[in-house]
Amino acid sequence: MNKHLILIFTAISLLFSGCTDANMDDKHKKETTETKKEDTEALNNRLAGGRLGSENIAFIGGGSSNKIWVVDAKYHKLLTAIDMGGPKLERTKKLYPDLHDAHAITFSKDFKIAYTVVWFNYDDPSQVIAFDPTTFKELWRAPAGAGGHHAALSPDDKYLYVANQYGGTISVIDTKSRKKIKDLKTGKGPDYISPSMYWDGKAIDSPYLWASIDQESKVVAIDWKTNEIVKEIKVDGMMHGINLTPDGKQVWVCVMGGKNVTVIDVEKMEIKDKISFKESPIHLSFSPDGKSAYITIGGTKNQVNKINTSDYKKVWSSTGVSLPAHTGVSPDGKELWTLNHGLDAERYPYNLGGSVVSGVQIWDTENGDLINEIPAEGMPHEIQFVPYSAVGEYTEIHPDHESDTGKSDDKHADDHDVQAVYNKNCASCHGKDLAGKTGPNLLKVGNRLSAEEIYKITMNGKGMMPSGLVSKDEAKSLSEWLAKKK
Ligand code: HEC
Repeated sequence: MNKHLILIFTAISLLFSGCTDANMDDKHKKETTETKKEDTEALNNRLAGGRLGSENIAFIGGGSSNKIWVVDAKYHKLLTAIDMGGPKLERTKKLYPDLHDAHAITFSKDFKIAYTVVWFNYDDPSQVIAFDPTTFKELWRAPAGAGGHHAALSPDDKYLYVANQYGGTISVIDTKSRKKIKDLKTGKGPDYISPSMYWDGKAIDSPYLWASIDQESKVVAIDWKTNEIVKEIKVDGMMHGINLTPDGKQVWVCVMGGKNVTVIDVEKMEIKDKISFKESPIHLSFSPDGKSAYITIGGTKNQVNKINTSDYKKVWSSTGVSLPAHTGVSPDGKELWTLNHGLDAERYPYNLGGSVVSGVQIWDTENGDLINEIPAEGMPHEIQFVPYSAVGEYTEIHPDHESDTGKSDDKHADDHDVQAVYNKNCASCHGKDLAGKTGPNLLKVGNRLSAEEIYKITMNGKGMMPSGLVSKDEAKSLSEWLAKKK
């Protein structure tokens, strides 16, 4: 399958670069061909997901779109979006300035339940919504506090913590009784809570979850066994992202106000280091091996950075478009996804859902190259990668036989090929077992019709049966195969 796709993309790019410069003189030819090829390749990448990613689905909190986006992380394609309800077009700046809706996306460790938090005005409590990722059906909802923003599960999945940005609390939701059992008073502006799982269904080994309390320039540690705040640590200003290293030993905080990433030693519960930047760090993610951190930075240059976690040296910097904010690393560690609050308005000169196109930029973690872009409604926030199995049964689809190998005397392989062509083009009407559905039963079609007659019907169609379903060669083997059904 992969091989076939890659072949097709290569064929398309060759086709494009091959025919566009046919009339040019030699002097300009090489240069132009090169640029054209690059353009075409870039375009192919963007439009077709030309470079394959990891075997996962990415769930992304679609922020003000009130939706959770579901993206195929292998093909880099938006599959669908789950609407969280609430006001949409009637939402205005005047009515709901700075309104935050579906930011959070958190999965239970078995990937069977997804949680988000939504809110639509300042007074009512926000709602935790638990849904089934295979059916997208809401399972239950529970009120949290005012302005529920990000959320995280305890490592044992028993509690969901919701940072209520306007309520100044972190709500503790018991996932079994599906009720809020407690509000932890945090001070103003609780924002982001360090997730307890990044990729693989394994909980990060840490006695605490950490939350950034934006407007009070402090982080708090929540003991998830007692559901108490056990420590507050002051930092140099307002923060956003706060994440535990995969080994649970450190917590890294993006201190926007102080233009640094503050590293806290979890065991000692104190600040270990500060990594300075020219502009404000916004969010960060770690590589699965914990050796690298990827940090998004405000400003117009060097927005996406790879940092070595042992010596804090910069490995590469890249520049995205319009504020790459949240981040996520694919479970194979090969891709960094930045969730951008806006994409290039020249490439996407239109609005979606009433605002500029936002979306994902995908970076090669090796060298910082931009691999792909996924435009969508905005603005995206948290991201969680889940295996294909989390959204339903996943069966490997076997690639078609390499039928041009000339080994046609292998009868079984032939039958198998014909059956595959039949299943793909005919079975929807005639049934997989040939017993008929909207089309007639073909189990004994050989008694009625010769191979030649079947060939004609297959090529030309008949009555309600469409013509041109298969190639001549396929029609030939299909008719010979069907003529034997007696
Ligand atoms: C969209 C539905 C549909 C598909 C797809 C379809 N068929 Fe049919 N097929 C029909 C219908 C309906 C008839 C009956 C036409 C009539 O007699 O008016 C028919 C008739 C036939 C007949 C004649 C049967 C008879 O006993 O007279 C053959 C043979 C046949 N189809 C083969 C195929 C093959 C091979 C394919 C796949 C390449 C195929 N069909 C795909 C709907 C379909």
